Amino acid sequence: AMFSANDFVSDPCPSNPLDQMVVEELRLPPTFAWGTATAAYQIEGGTSQDGKGPSIWDIFSHIEPSRTNGENGDIACDHYNRAAEDVELMSSLGVDVYRFSISWPRIIPLGGRNDPINEKGIAFYNNLIDQLLDRDIEPVVTLYHWDVPQGLYDRYKAFLNTAEFQADFIHYARLCFTRFGDRVKKWVTFNEPYIISIFAHLNGTLAPGHCVAEGTDTTTEPWRVGHTLILSHAAVVDMYTTEFHYSQKGDISIVLNGSFYEPWDATDKVHRDAAERRMVFYIGWFGDPIFLGQDYPSEMRAALGSRLPAFTDKERRLLSRTAPNNAFYGMNHYSTKYARTLSEPPAGDDWTGNIAESSVNKFGQEVGPVTAVNWLRVAPDGFRKLLNWVWQRYHLPVIVTENGCPCPGETDVQIAVDDKLREKYIGLYLDAISRAIYEDGVQVTGYYAWTLMDNFEWSAGYGSRFGIVHTDFDTLKRTPKNSAYYLKATFARRRQPA
Ligand code: NOJ
Repeated sequence: AMFSANDFVSDPCPSNPLDQMVVEELRLPPTFAWGTATAAYQIEGGTSQDGKGPSIWDIFSHIEPSRTNGENGDIACDHYNRAAEDVELMSSLGVDVYRFSISWPRIIPLGGRNDPINEKGIAFYNNLIDQLLDRDIEPVVTLYHWDVPQGLYDRYKAFLNTAEFQADFIHYARLCFTRFGDRVKKWVTFNEPYIISIFAHLNGTLAPGHCVAEGTDTTTEPWRVGHTLILSHAAVVDMYTTEFHYSQKGDISIVLNGSFYEPWDATDKVHRDAAERRMVFYIGWFGDPIFLGQDYPSEMRAALGSRLPAFTDKERRLLSRTAPNNAFYGMNHYSTKYARTLSEPPAGDDWTGNIAESSVNKFGQEVGPVTAVNWLRVAPDGFRKLLNWVWQRYHLPVIVTENGCPCPGETDVQIAVDDKLREKYIGLYLDAISRAIYEDGVQVTGYYAWTLMDNFEWSAGYGSRFGIVHTDFDTLKRTPKNSAYYLKATFARRRQPA
């Protein structure tokens, strides 16, 4: 379309800034895969059914209900008993891919390498995988989406004991590859290591809830947890490569989350540096050792000193050997923020590299229209820039393993189905992918909407709804929202020959 300057003066101050953000006709490669994503604790329920053991989330949500909006995942979407219905639902929406996670304590109730295996739990995932393949839906499996067996936490505090955790995680992963790897060809080791390290072991908002108030050493623990995650990931990539890749021919990697950071004041180098440093502390922390086989970023070493653990020579060799075997970059992305360098370092032990973040910049501009939660803004340009940032640093094909937003008022099914905000958000974010591919040369191969259906949103309980399908938590009825049909129609069109 052609515009003249006059087109923009007629409505100089639109009431809704979203109206100004227009979704163009989408262009995506014919091989581009779309899907939906979930995680075990958020949807399964059946927390002690058929021999499942407790995870840290079962315990955390019950001993500290105030940290989860008074709610828990005991029933959630009852997916454990309704998997067939959910696969049917996805099939009706025309998804190519379903990303889900395996509950570790469902298949090894106590979690450890010498503990018994629960065949009923294994059968559940075998059936799920078979049902998906029957309907031509590709399973993408996350080994760890935040629900470590409580048994391992009780024994050695899970991630805080690198050697023990690594040995148990390798054992669990090997069991999954052995039992499911004939049919599962895309594996993710860990979901969002940043969140596991910072939110679960620094500010304590997620299980197991380590924080200063608990008397734990938060100056070193988050970095120790990150170290464990990196080394356990690398060890499992190594094991998959040597023991399974030849026969199973699957791909393996990790999922990293991260906002894009814009400078709080783009005219000032101090704040431009802050935005870049924030990305390095968020993504480079894990990405550099895992995908480049390198030490932690120098900016982090400079700021954190010996609080950041060192890799031994043997560990360095593991990292440089396994880095090239990561087949893709799994990206969870939701929003953009502003970062600024603080004039005074924050009190206590700084963990950000002397940075504060916000949704408003120095000039009072919002980073994007708000959704149902304040941290999540509609900012597709930041997404496009993040895709470029990741591509330039790691040169790996990107799969967008999560993206989506909650809309206001969605408890009510009538309001929920008419989710224009989500439809627009998804359209704009797909458009950002299209531009990153065709205008910037970034390789992006898939988009998985978070999430299939409204579910247990961790600290927010059932109060924050990200589903493209509405869940009625009294009747457990699923009702697709308009965004689900929008995705279906968009990708059905893409599949038609030109
Ligand atoms: C990231 C997490 O992986 C997922 O579990 C969560 O529900 C979404 N973000 C939305 O906050």
